[in-house]
Amino acid sequence: MTNKSEQEKPVTTNPQGMLKTALGDFSYIYPILAAQILDDYGIRNGKCLDIGAGPGLLGIEIARQSELKVTSLDISSEMGEIARGLARERGVQERVKILNADVHAIPLEDNYFDLIVSRGSFIFWSDKVQAFREIYRVLKPGGVAYVGGGDGKKWPREIKDILKKLKYSIKIPLRNKFSRRWQEFNFSFDYWEEVMREAGIEEYRLMNRHLWIEISKSK
Ligand SMILES: C[S@@+](CC[C@H](N)C(=O)[O-])C[C@H]1O[C@@H](n2cnc3c(N)ncnc32)[C@H](O)[C@@H]1O
Repeated sequence: MTNKSEQEKPVTTNPQGMLKTALGDFSYIYPILAAQILDDYGIRNGKCLDIGAGPGLLGIEIARQSELKVTSLDISSEMGEIARGLARERGVQERVKILNADVHAIPLEDNYFDLIVSRGSFIFWSDKVQAFREIYRVLKPGGVAYVGGGDGKKWPREIKDILKKLKYSIKIPLRNKFSRRWQEFNFSFDYWEEVMREAGIEEYRLMNRHLWIEISKSK
């Protein structure tokens, strides 16, 4: 299922630019978001997958705050190298593995991860149905996937204000054969319900305006 705006190919995130944002304005969101996810789902052991991990800071924080073994997956190998360096710098290199792969074809077996997280990446996925089929496939029965962007529910007002100023979660640059410009995305709840239906996912919850999707898989 394609959104009108997906007919054009999003420009891949610039690794150095994303690193600057992740260590700058966004630096304090990762520990807060990691704590929120670990508190909400109580999954602190086993395997975690961070999809479109970029510099890897969400997965790194999850590794720091739990016993989870994290796989940091990104389509960009340059992002992977940045994540590897940051995991080492933050002392969790033993529990953070780097995987250069595409969410549309995750090169891992079924029912593998206890926890799957992804922040700020789904807008770049060209086939949402296929991406979510893959997420569901590698999720273990009893596990949870938490996929989204923008603000998490526990972020303080000042962080929400920064995000609002950056217009981060709703506009990304798109390139088509005519131009490079900013394009607004409008992902409605109806849109996501259809994606979930087509992906064959029945147990899910859609949350807040910047969208977080919580997916569970029964045992
Ligand atoms: C805006 S960054 C977000 C990075 C990180 N999750 C964060 O919150 O700091 C989006 C990331 O998604 C990755 N990405 C885009 N398309 C992807 C795909 N098809 N499969 C895996 N990763 C992808 C990009 O390379 C980029 O690192």
